[in-house]
Amino acid sequence: MQKGTRGRLVELAARSASQDTRGRPLADLRISVMDRCNFRCPYCMPRETFGDRYQFLASSERLSFEEIVRLARLFAHLGVRKLRLTGGEPLLRSNLADLIGELSVIEGIEDLALTTNGVLLGQHAAELAANGLRRVTVSLDTLDPETFRRMNGGFDGLDRVQDGIRAAREAGLAPVRINCVVQRGVNDGQVLDVARHFRGTGVTVRFIEYMDVGNRNHWDATRVVPARELLECIAAVYPLRPIAGAYRGEVAQRYSYADGMGEIGFVTSVTQPFCGDCTRARLSSDGVLYTCLFATEGLDLRARLRAGASDGELLALIRGRWEQRTDRYSELRNAAAGEQPQRKIEMYYIGG
Ligand code: GTP
Ligand code: 5AD
Ligand code: SF4
Ligand code: SF4
Repeated sequence: MQKGTRGRLVELAARSASQDTRGRPLADLRISVMDRCNFRCPYCMPRETFGDRYQFLASSERLSFEEIVRLARLFAHLGVRKLRLTGGEPLLRSNLADLIGELSVIEGIEDLALTTNGVLLGQHAAELAANGLRRVTVSLDTLDPETFRRMNGGFDGLDRVQDGIRAAREAGLAPVRINCVVQRGVNDGQVLDVARHFRGTGVTVRFIEYMDVGNRNHWDATRVVPARELLECIAAVYPLRPIAGAYRGEVAQRYSYADGMGEIGFVTSVTQPFCGDCTRARLSSDGVLYTCLFATEGLDLRARLRAGASDGELLALIRGRWEQRTDRYSELRNAAAGEQPQRKIEMYYIGG
């Protein structure tokens, strides 16, 4: 943003925080910084589609750091308080710590987090923390090496992910969280092992119901393990107590271990949708704004940026899009069972 435009910006944005048609404020922005990944999880980037010939974005098609920072500032002016960097795998983006440094000083941003598969975290955690990253979430669906390979498309690296988690804790990227997507017949038998492993370590595991994101993951409802079932399985061994939500729009239902050994969470997008409080916008690595994880179309901000749009014009566009927002896909999913409408965006492209 050029100097001197700040006053005008504040004036433009301060009229009111943006709210959508269902009264939901714009509070979180998830920014995908990289469409590539070093894994090929079948539920996200199946190998048969994302093989050697797959055309990922060219570097020039991805938003530059300067463009990301400019947009993040504008979103902060519209009410965004929390930024989360995602991918694909965000740590494949060169010099990511430089971007973190710039995002961490944006006025209004209170929380800056990163979601990673953890393989490269060991080598980056200290620098990311030093540059202002607050916390990190590591995607880890199992602790069994064979299942790990099966769930990530055939890669080793469980040890490296564990090292990454350790490095993140040592760097103070706390609380470290683990995203564990549970699929029936794949890793549902290992849920208790995962809970047990992290119990008492200060690392919080969140078990996520397998969702029908994208068009390629051959989702079917029989693969979903309802969070209630997981909760009962864990609580039978380690009694749990519900914790009240920390903020509006919180994704996970949180529980503490009754014996004081920490907490776990459940993300119930399929069995108990949470669209009513969804305050999240998503920006793809090529600069398209989506207002839902299951969106079929977005707003191309990169085109406007590169055509020379002013801050005021961009603010008006983003605000306009948010104010028209009607999304509540997860609430409608069950009603629309069987109908798969248009092509949805892919998880690897928008980062979950
Ligand atoms: P914290 O701030 O650490 O609580 O995390 P978060 O709210 O940013 O959640 P995180 O990105 O860790 O989300 C965990 C998982 O929940 C994601 O990987 C998705 O699978 C799912 N999820 C997150 N946001 C949404 C959403 O808006 N809709 C749906 N349906 N699922 C979501
Ligand atoms: N259902 C639920 N979560 C998913 N993720 C990826 N695909 C799915 C899916 N189909 C999760 C990953 C990661 C985050 C980016 O999204 O495990 O934690
Ligand atoms: Fe990569 Fe995460 Fe997708 Fe797996 S789920 S392929 S780790 S982006
Ligand atoms: Fe938000 Fe869409 Fe997820 Fe509902 S389905 S919680 S509207 S991202």
